[in-house]
Amino acid sequence: MTTDSSPVRVAVIGTSVISGSFAAAVAAADGIRIEAVYSRDAERAADAAARFGAEWSSDSLDEVLGSPEVDAVYIASPNSVHAEQVAAAIAAGKHVLVEKPAVLHAREWRELVVQARAAGVVLLEAMRTEYDPGTALVRSLLPRLGTVRMASLRYAKRSSRYDQVLAGERVNMFDPALGGGALADLGVYCLHAMVSLFGMPDRLTAAVVPVASGVEGAGTVTAAYPGLVVDLSYSKISTSQLGSEIQGEDSTLVIDLIAAPRVVTLVAADGTTERHEVPGDPHPLAGEIDRFVDLIATGGDAGADQLLTEQTLELVERARSAAA
Ligand SMILES: NC(=O)c1ccc[n+]([C@@H]2O[C@H](COP(=O)([O-])OP(=O)(O)OC[C@H]3O[C@@H](n4cnc5c(N)ncnc54)[C@H](OP(=O)(O)O)[C@@H]3O)[C@@H](O)[C@H]2O)c1
Repeated sequence: MTTDSSPVRVAVIGTSVISGSFAAAVAAADGIRIEAVYSRDAERAADAAARFGAEWSSDSLDEVLGSPEVDAVYIASPNSVHAEQVAAAIAAGKHVLVEKPAVLHAREWRELVVQARAAGVVLLEAMRTEYDPGTALVRSLLPRLGTVRMASLRYAKRSSRYDQVLAGERVNMFDPALGGGALADLGVYCLHAMVSLFGMPDRLTAAVVPVASGVEGAGTVTAAYPGLVVDLSYSKISTSQLGSEIQGEDSTLVIDLIAAPRVVTLVAADGTTERHEVPGDPHPLAGEIDRFVDLIATGGDAGADQLLTEQTLELVERARSAAA
């Protein structure tokens, strides 16, 4: 186990683009370093280890999880694989940072939270939005809006893989068997931000645009709170040119990208605007890494973070059944 003075030695599970992005963010972070890489294929593992700056690699998850050189794992495998890998890592006494959506069902997440607590390890969802300085900026400006009445949170970006889906090819992120779909992939950023900013809604309605692979390619959710309505839209088959916004009785907040706000504009009722920028172009994964390291170093309580994940997963399930 790591101590306050030694860096967290993390093993990366998965070798796709997001794992490389994680490795780059780790290289720039304090208190953590990449120890190992796991891939189902030994050659891919060795290649990724060289690219990610890892000490070693393996095609055996048991070897990685059994290693005393590994304190923690970062899991970036397809969504349906997360639950089993998280459980195995916790059982091996490793701290876990797992990509969004953490698992497929809120019930699974609750069980894993109990297991992590019993094992004395940190379990955190890599929900970058929650730890992004842009979200902190949005939160800090909310009191300036007056009573918040409406919000529109959007994340719609056509996937470069959609053409493969149209051609009838199997693509992991569009594969229902792997927990794919636009709601799990992009909709969760909007849902998580909504729960984090406004809490759980009283009522929810939803609609989806299905694609041939059997998942939703796009969709909307409308969430009703006392005195507030939030609409969410997400898509992996089309691209929105609009940002997100939160409307209060006094002012409106316009947000360029809800998953990683960088320019946030406050527009008052008389039309005057105030532009706020997040300084320094921070790496989108830096915040979640800092939070993970801090929880491990301080023995902090991840309960509030874990509850937001659980509530978001509940809303994913409610949105799917509401749209069915
Ligand atoms: N935070 C972000 O900005 C962000 C961005 C993109 C993705 N993500 C999340 O990261 C995770 C991975 O997404 P992705 O699109 O990168 O997924 P992916 O390419 O389908 O899979 C990621 C890795 O998992 C392994 N893998 C692939 N299929 C597998 C299977 N059937 N069983 C077990 N392992 C398998 C592969 O590694 P090996 O073949 O080398 O074992 C692959 O490199 C998802 O949870 C996604 O939501 C987050």
